[in-house]
Amino acid sequence: MKMGTMIHGVGEKMSDWRHPELPSDASVSLKFYIEQAQKAEEGKFDFVFIADALHINEHSNPHYLNRFEPLTILSALAAVTSHIGLVGTLSTTYSEPFSAARQFASLDMISGGRAGWNVVTSGLEKTALNFSQEVKDHPDHAARYRKASEYIDVMQGLWKSWEDDAFIRDKETGIFMYKEKMHELNHAGEFFSVKGPLNIGRSRQGEPVIFQAGSSADGKDLAAKKADTVFAIIPSITKAQNYYHDLKQRVEQYGRNPEDVFVMQGISPIIGKTDKEAEAKYQELARLVEIDQALAFLSRLFEFHDFSTYPLDELFPDVGDLGKNSFRSDTDRIKQEAIEESLTLREVALREATPRPLFMGTPEKVADLMEEWFESRATDGFIIIANLPSYLGDFIDAVVPILQERGLFRKNYEANTLRENLGLRIPRHCSMTEISR
Ligand SMILES: Cc1cc2nc3c(=O)[nH]c(=O)nc-3n(C[C@H](O)[C@H](O)[C@H](O)COP(=O)(O)O)c2cc1C
Repeated sequence: MKMGTMIHGVGEKMSDWRHPELPSDASVSLKFYIEQAQKAEEGKFDFVFIADALHINEHSNPHYLNRFEPLTILSALAAVTSHIGLVGTLSTTYSEPFSAARQFASLDMISGGRAGWNVVTSGLEKTALNFSQEVKDHPDHAARYRKASEYIDVMQGLWKSWEDDAFIRDKETGIFMYKEKMHELNHAGEFFSVKGPLNIGRSRQGEPVIFQAGSSADGKDLAAKKADTVFAIIPSITKAQNYYHDLKQRVEQYGRNPEDVFVMQGISPIIGKTDKEAEAKYQELARLVEIDQALAFLSRLFEFHDFSTYPLDELFPDVGDLGKNSFRSDTDRIKQEAIEESLTLREVALREATPRPLFMGTPEKVADLMEEWFESRATDGFIIIANLPSYLGDFIDAVVPILQERGLFRKNYEANTLRENLGLRIPRHCSMTEISR
């Protein structure tokens, strides 16, 4: 079973920052990030994960308003951890692959081969205004995914600028590197034109691991073509099994081995000594959310649509295609659930702002559920999205040992690189002459 955790300061929700346990500056606290990463490493997790986005306004969640840039904080975490993978989010719509390839290769080198890149396409159209463009220039969903696909090709091409043994650094002969082991990319495509080579070589794991989180058809196709690991958040075992099956089929259609791409489900476990204690912990967080905050949370998913103009206790409004060009898989799911379950706007907003965790209860109960999901091919692993530091601590102290006892999860790291700990092959890069030598 693969395992990661999202470190996200005061959290993805509007109100968690008000909980007495959470430092209210957690999103910009190096101490907080170090403690969380070291705890996850104590739990032998494969990786920590930092999410990101590039547009805020006064209605954004507290965490989004004031938080670390992913690669910067991960570089700091690299220095205080030794085995855990470091996965950062970077948008393919609003950055340049040459700079990004360099940044990730540097993190990979700094950490001794533990870097991963979460590829996102940026759903929020007003992001364009931060990148010298207008809202109308924000590419549509399909174009964003075409660009992402080409972007990954360029990144991976640049990461192959140097063969594994290009830098000989022979002081006797004065040869620093073999010129024939340096390769220009000379890429010219629909979106990018990049000559190369990159000015940094390969790491102990060859190159960073690719993570992807799109759940739409385009998103799944991109993952199937290019990713090593795919994130999803699907709170139903049957739907998760369907997603898993669909994704692995797509992987096969693109000529890859389905075992080479892992699906990981994001879960927010709440553990108690009894089910009642876990429920009380959940209620404590849910009580912190006010309805206007829940509406603001919902609004962000729907291109900052103003939901406050609708009656709260009538059926969720028909918002047409709104959301199709932003967080499509979320907004499609919300619309579908609202119709199927006849939900009111208030119910939808509160459910999205504080979803009741499926993985909630005693350590044995949560371990049983995880085992069931894993064994029934609903997922290859989990990303723990903990609302509070103690929720991550409870999970690591109480659930991980059960999973270890059952032989479902490692007791010790197998290796020092992210690729090897995930069970992925290290892509060797050397010329034919080198192989025959
Ligand atoms: C576990 C997980 C983490 C995600 N992290 C980010 C993120 O950091 N930044 C972002 O813009 N989107 C993030 N997403 C959203 C997706 O990348 C994607 O933008 C969204 O699902 C819309 O894409 P789709 O239309 O293909 O579903 C995440 C999704 C999941 C399930």
